[in-house]
Amino acid sequence: MEEASLFSTGKFGRFGGIFVPETLVTCLNKLADEFNLVLHDSHFQAELAVALRDYVGRETPLYFAQRLTNHYKNCNGQGPEIYLKREDLNHGGAHKINNAIAQAMLAKRMGRKRVVAATGAGQHGVATAAACAKLDLDCTIVMGDVDMERQSSNVLMMKLFGAQITSVQGTFKDATSEAIRKWVEDLDISYYLAGTAVGPHPCPTIVRQFQSIIGKETRKQAMEKWGGKPDVVVACVGSGSNALGIFHEFIGDEDVRLIGVEAAGAGIDSGKHSATMAKGVIGVYHGAMSYLLQDDEGQIIGPHSIGVGLEYPGVSPELCFLKDIGRAEFYTVTDEEALDAYGLVCRVEGICPALEASHALAYLGKLCEGLPNGTKVVVNCSGGGNKDAKTVLNYQLEKQIASHTCTSH
Ligand SMILES: Cc1ncc(COP(=O)(O)O)c(C=O)c1O
Repeated sequence: MEEASLFSTGKFGRFGGIFVPETLVTCLNKLADEFNLVLHDSHFQAELAVALRDYVGRETPLYFAQRLTNHYKNCNGQGPEIYLKREDLNHGGAHKINNAIAQAMLAKRMGRKRVVAATGAGQHGVATAAACAKLDLDCTIVMGDVDMERQSSNVLMMKLFGAQITSVQGTFKDATSEAIRKWVEDLDISYYLAGTAVGPHPCPTIVRQFQSIIGKETRKQAMEKWGGKPDVVVACVGSGSNALGIFHEFIGDEDVRLIGVEAAGAGIDSGKHSATMAKGVIGVYHGAMSYLLQDDEGQIIGPHSIGVGLEYPGVSPELCFLKDIGRAEFYTVTDEEALDAYGLVCRVEGICPALEASHALAYLGKLCEGLPNGTKVVVNCSGGGNKDAKTVLNYQLEKQIASHTCTSH
């Protein structure tokens, strides 16, 4: 599956592909060629390894969450062991930097002077701005005005790192459309730095490849810690990069369950969610075929989640394929459940997970009940949640006000 996709049209079963105007095909082919070269270029790989170690701060720990484990034990004191893959400890506070630094190096190697990227939660924006500062590349980050408000601390960091911020009306999907437009304006000097595993080939493959370090480290660390593999790997699914980053290493290990958790937002039947796997139908968006939130006329339905980084109407074509062949399972978690998990992990572990990662953590509530004692569960803690503290606080205040209003009537 992988080799064919690297060198051809990036099809994952019926998903993926290159649905773009003719003028872009040459540019994407050039990118695919360069990517395939660096995969086997020992000089590039050695430089990347140093950047990942000394700049990003890898490897990230595989942390045994003792109190979270205790929390999910049954009345007989039995339950799974829960481990967190601490991507929140990366430079910039999320997994996004693994891919951003590698692609910024690729851009530099291709002689591009200017990097354009779209961001939702702002983590990819921060990572890209940091990588561009380090590599002396001009950086433009496009962000929806709604997201700029919700993730204002990340906007500040991007500015401090010297990025130019372009605001567009809307959210991440609108920012992505605008970033692609900006890239197309000047293909010879610009590089579109995809932050997640969507878009036309080779973008999904590049992002997945540079994120696959998460799963590779997890395998090694699991072997060191308990002499085996994880039994279950859980990750949140926005558009797919952190999930694929940890899943990819284990796709061939049929005894490792791979679980993706999507955002059910205000409820899976509320029409206000980002559950593309659960509710989407197949369509083409931003240059590739995937499950997609769209109406009967093929118009995009705006996604919603309290985890801003989960708001995207499409999803990684490779994850769609893993769903189709039954290799990965997908479930949903509501805003409310994610907020509860955010609070729980803060209180019992002293770790503040991003609201996106809190969706994966929230699913433990349903998962742990049915698992045999001692099952090794690894949750990808894709990022830190400092950026979300204001959102969480506002939500709690609104809830308090609502309950007060109800009781005083
Ligand atoms: C911390 C964090 N986790 C997860 C995601 C979702 O993206 P993806 O599905 O590509 O990992 C984001 C997106 O911004 C994020 O910031």
